[in-house]
Amino acid sequence: MTKKKVLLLPGDGIGPEITAEVRKVMAWFNSTGRTSFEITEDLIGGISYDTHGTPLTDAALKRAQESDAVLMASVGGVKWDVLPFKDRPERGLLALRKGLGVFANLRPALVFDVLANASTLKPEVVQGLDIMIVRELLGGVYFGEPRGIETLPDGQRRGVNTQVYTTSEIQRVARVAFELARKRKNKLCSVEKANVMESGVLWREEVTKLHAAEYKDVELVHMYADNCAMQLVRNPKQFDVIVSDNLFGDLLSDLASMLPGSLGMLPSASLGLRDASGRQAGFYEPIHGSAPDIAGKGIANPLAMILSYGMMLRYSFDMAANADLIEKAVQNVLRAGVRTGDIVEKGQTPVSTAVMGDAVVKELTSLTI
Ligand code: IPM
Ligand code: MG
Repeated sequence: MTKKKVLLLPGDGIGPEITAEVRKVMAWFNSTGRTSFEITEDLIGGISYDTHGTPLTDAALKRAQESDAVLMASVGGVKWDVLPFKDRPERGLLALRKGLGVFANLRPALVFDVLANASTLKPEVVQGLDIMIVRELLGGVYFGEPRGIETLPDGQRRGVNTQVYTTSEIQRVARVAFELARKRKNKLCSVEKANVMESGVLWREEVTKLHAAEYKDVELVHMYADNCAMQLVRNPKQFDVIVSDNLFGDLLSDLASMLPGSLGMLPSASLGLRDASGRQAGFYEPIHGSAPDIAGKGIANPLAMILSYGMMLRYSFDMAANADLIEKAVQNVLRAGVRTGDIVEKGQTPVSTAVMGDAVVKELTSLTI
């Protein structure tokens, strides 16, 4: 049997620090024989720009395409914000998503019982919360043409971006969302602004058609994006699966990520279409960014990164038991009061990134002996 290939991309900011911790977890799974992955690493983002003059080299993209799954930490930092758009770290990430064809971005917002007090909302509002946001990742205003900044004859400047969606782009992501809903509480909320945008009208029509044709058993509601943002803080437990476009999905998932209290806790998975041979691109990354303000201090929370690896085991390798094991280990570590600064509670002393990683590995061992 050929070994499955996993590519690790530490990236920028806190990326290398949290990658060091997930490496320990990956090594634990390999050494206990639960996985036998061939793990390689490459550069992306600002570090790639500094080394190669581009945020993503063709070679790194090719290596990602040839891997069975890719795990990235984070990209970006103030140092590179002065660069033209094409050279920015974020462009490397967008090019990688596009090059892998991962159009469905799964962003869970799950409140671990032990962390209900870490939320800025009342514990009763978030306790037991389990939402999945499915964000379209390869279309909309992020990639739409025309785009750019031009100077008008009268000397004014004009910035343009285009929101654009086709039937098939809407259908394929809606299908992923319907399928996920079936495995969960069977509820889907589709989000757009059909009250002001034609692309939103089309979105609503296509989702409605697909529902009638193939997913009548799933309870479907439609919501305008602004109302959805409001409902997410008013009563988040009304939601099961939410599906939205690239930009609204970006905003709503950041909003939802605060329900559990810390962005440092939330993983994500991005999936492509399954081809005839059963192969499906899988790209995993924490929802949080590179957090330049705390980079290099050894205090970042590595749990979103570790949980992203868990999502990889679940979605790319069909290893639900191993994924459950990671989630269980994380819960137990939190329950024991091991907390990084972002999720620390009164009376607890914050631990370092490395101590958190070690605690998870130790708990994995305890859970399996
Ligand atoms: C995210 C980020 C990215 C996005 C940035 C870094 C390009 O905000 O993954 O949500 O907007 O998609
Ligand atoms: Mg975002």
